[in-house]
Amino acid sequence: MNELHQKLESLKGQALQAFLNEKTADSLYQMKVYFLGKKGLLTDILKDLGKLPPEDRPQVGALANQLKNELEKTYQSRLNEIQRTEVEQKLKSESIDVTLPAVGVCKGSIHPVSQILTEICSLFADMGFDIFEGPEIETDYYNFEALNIPKDHPTRDMHDTFFLPDQRVLRTHTSPVQIRLMEKEKPPLRMIAPGVVYRRDSDVTHTPMFHQVEGLVVDENITLAHLKGVVETFLRKIFDSKTRVKFRPSFFPFTEPSAEVDIGCVFCKGDGCRVCKQTGWLEIMGCGMVDPEVFCSVSIDSERYTGFAFGMGVERIAMLKLGIDDIRLFFENEIDFLKQF
Ligand code: DAH
Repeated sequence: MNELHQKLESLKGQALQAFLNEKTADSLYQMKVYFLGKKGLLTDILKDLGKLPPEDRPQVGALANQLKNELEKTYQSRLNEIQRTEVEQKLKSESIDVTLPAVGVCKGSIHPVSQILTEICSLFADMGFDIFEGPEIETDYYNFEALNIPKDHPTRDMHDTFFLPDQRVLRTHTSPVQIRLMEKEKPPLRMIAPGVVYRRDSDVTHTPMFHQVEGLVVDENITLAHLKGVVETFLRKIFDSKTRVKFRPSFFPFTEPSAEVDIGCVFCKGDGCRVCKQTGWLEIMGCGMVDPEVFCSVSIDSERYTGFAFGMGVERIAMLKLGIDDIRLFFENEIDFLKQF
């Protein structure tokens, strides 16, 4: 055996050992490059092939090829082994315990205020009312002036207005929608306007944003009796068919005469409790006959037409219906609170 032959045999031994020792695909590849790469040990040894007598060269060359094939094979099977172990380890460390209880799926529900709002709208729709909407950013004209609340009028103070530039405001009530409807359509009119309103106010019964539903009916020969009939029918449907309803004289600049409507306390049934402040009555909405001044600002002939209007707070009705004593709960988005409805 010549010297070259010996060198090849010893390289084979070293390489096989090295391949078996490596534990990662990366380091195994480094070893392959070290022994079999273009600049590796095998190439180095074969540089001396030319120095051999010509008759010996084919034999050594064949041996070198055989060795290279064998090492390639060993490399490949070792690589497969390493990769298999890596996958096995990964599977082990990422194992899923299928016996664990599943994470429950939370079912959503309609927000209580939306539920009541939908109920109110559908009750009025049954009585033949159309639904009409107006913008939340209003001009001073629609929110106040056209509703017979001139500048410096003391009732403006009741509204705790959020003012915006250019004589605009966040609407403090849904009453401006009355004006927008009457500008657009001619009587007979029968509409409700549900929507969000804003006031600078916050405590257990007030939030800076809340919902109102406005109502307006305009036609020939509309009287206070129609107003009373509609309001009583509505309240007895939304609360209880035996609900007691009381009209109490009041003042709103856009209605004349005006009234506030009380219902018998839904909690104590009139005996007197904390919610009704021992009076047995709960204030539920404002209403009245449309003031001729309002008709004047929308050019409706108040000699020919009369009408009534009303406005109510949706959260207030929801609180009374659902027995909730803090209005802020509606807007805190506590899942545990919302889940109950
Ligand atoms: N806009 C009034 C408020 O927010 C409620 C109201 C009272 C509306 C009487 C009306 C009405 O249409 O006739 O306090």
